[in-house]
Amino acid sequence: MDIKGAVALVAGGGGGFGAASARRLHAAGARVVVCDLDEAKGKAVAEDLGDGAVFVRTDVTDEDSVQAALDQAAELGQLRIVVVAHGGRGGSRTLDRDNRPAPQESFTRVVEVFLNATFNIGRLAAAAMARSEPLEHGERGVIINTASIAAYDGTIGQAAYSAAKGGIVAMTLPLARDLAPLGIRVVTVAPGTFLTPAFGDADPAQLDAYWGAAVPFPKRMGRPEEYAQLIQQIAENVYLNGETIRLDGALRFTPKGAK
Ligand SMILES: NC(=O)c1ccc[n+]([C@@H]2O[C@H](COP(=O)([O-])OP(=O)(O)OC[C@H]3O[C@@H](n4cnc5c(N)ncnc54)[C@H](O)[C@@H]3O)[C@@H](O)[C@H]2O)c1
Repeated sequence: MDIKGAVALVAGGGGGFGAASARRLHAAGARVVVCDLDEAKGKAVAEDLGDGAVFVRTDVTDEDSVQAALDQAAELGQLRIVVVAHGGRGGSRTLDRDNRPAPQESFTRVVEVFLNATFNIGRLAAAAMARSEPLEHGERGVIINTASIAAYDGTIGQAAYSAAKGGIVAMTLPLARDLAPLGIRVVTVAPGTFLTPAFGDADPAQLDAYWGAAVPFPKRMGRPEEYAQLIQQIAENVYLNGETIRLDGALRFTPKGAK
């Protein structure tokens, strides 16, 4: 796909992966809808990009909210690229230190935010893309979801997060198969550890040293720009479809993650 002139919607566009993707796609000539629950962060990204970028306050778990963002995208032109990169909080260990079971609600909340919301965006975005004119190869658009390597090697305390991310990996192929007749591709990225605001306010150099030590090569955390680079590559390569791509420097989590 030629990104120039395409309309892209980035969910979680105020965050580490989302902002980097919005910047990269905008630099490649896309008009970008930055969607985020956090108005300050999302607006800052859209304002920084200037012409061809708009912010829409969006809750990805809410149908009406996602539909309103898609309606805004339709005003910019034909939707071609959707990047699903919103965040959320993790879950709890199965048993706490006193062997009390985790609240079931903590599990369902994580699945709701990461997995259910990813499907919510995908189904609504696909309906919008279905109305677009086909491009070269009959392609109408691409939906790029974000899983995690925790889908494969989840660490202690990640049962809910791994289940949610594993669900995103598992639904990639059936989504691609569902949408293939329309020329809509579905590709998932499974990142390792990336230096984004999701890691909190700790000193970036310390984070890099701690988490980067476990990465075979390059021996550091990933950069959001490297995630965004893959987003552009996925958008451009029409033959990538129905697959999850690990982006992790060959990292495999140990039970505790890094050590
Ligand atoms: N950073 C990493 O190392 C890493 C690794 C693997 C997977 N991931 C995944 O990548 C995604 C993005 O991670 P990040 O590191 O960029 O996080 P981030 O915290 O930097 O950004 C997440 C953004 O999502 C927004 N958000 C949260 N809930 C929302 C909602 N309900 N609706 C709309 N927006 C919402 C936040 O306001 C924030 O701007 C997450 O799904 C995360 O699990 C991150």
